[in-house]
Amino acid sequence: MLLGQYGAPTHTIAHLSDPHLLAGGAPLHGAVDTVAHLERAVTMLRHLDPLPQALVFTGDLADLGEPDAYRRLRSIVEPAAAAIGAEVIWVMGNHDEREPYAAELFGEQPTSAPQDRVHDLDGLRIVSLDTTVRGYHHGALDSSQLDWLRGVLATPAPHGTVIAVHHPPVPVPLMPAMAMLELFDQGALADVVRGTDVRAILGGHLHYSTHSTFAGIPVSVAAATCYTMALATPDRLISGVDANQAISMVHVYDDRIVHTAVPLVDQPETSSFPASARSRIEAMTPEERTEAFSRKDSTFNRGAE
Ligand SMILES: [Fe+2]
Ligand SMILES: [Fe+2]
Repeated sequence: MLLGQYGAPTHTIAHLSDPHLLAGGAPLHGAVDTVAHLERAVTMLRHLDPLPQALVFTGDLADLGEPDAYRRLRSIVEPAAAAIGAEVIWVMGNHDEREPYAAELFGEQPTSAPQDRVHDLDGLRIVSLDTTVRGYHHGALDSSQLDWLRGVLATPAPHGTVIAVHHPPVPVPLMPAMAMLELFDQGALADVVRGTDVRAILGGHLHYSTHSTFAGIPVSVAAATCYTMALATPDRLISGVDANQAISMVHVYDDRIVHTAVPLVDQPETSSFPASARSRIEAMTPEERTEAFSRKDSTFNRGAE
């Protein structure tokens, strides 16, 4: 039942990024248990209401592009997705390699061709766009990819389009060094997406959550599941920390999209309200709810309950 003015979203997507798995489940940088962090992320999904219909992973799936890392990724993600009936949508990142990505995740012949794919999520089109450059960490899209994307977007989708990329087309004011590894020639992409049915761009790569716009389109970057960036470190150019891992939830409404960062870490709880109270709240009239929970001197807000 509605407790406010908005109905249910038309589509719910979990946006995860940068698991950076290694073969054998080896710790990243000798220290980060990327497998445990990813398992915690996908386990958390089943507690979300509404459940996500799709899990979109915006790249850097494997840290070194090793086949075993992709197999390990599937063995962790696919059962969790199946348990909640969610589709899995992969995106290439600069740490991935096209050949094992195509072979291990899609069962296709190994290929060096761009890994661009289109998914239909109940009328919401999700474009997985490969911004990687062989042998480099920065991003780029070649003219054939831009032509392909222009052709895809020529026909609007019933609920519009979400583009999922690894390199987000946004400034990085808190981590200027990352600008060297950004998506090059962003103007060419802007020319393709401007004025189309693209409603959001999902990105990764930065290992911290940030939001902006690109050619008038909202951009949401999910933090990483492996490690994240400390952003207030005056004596460091870049500082990765085994903390603050998070995913993002994407709730699509008819007239807008809501992006919410959901941290993975279990911190000590300082206040709570039991889920069992929901039925009691739903039994009240809207006026009773306002008096009980909005009114500053209500029994509830005086802390007597
Ligand atoms: Fe990454
Ligand atoms: Fe990256």
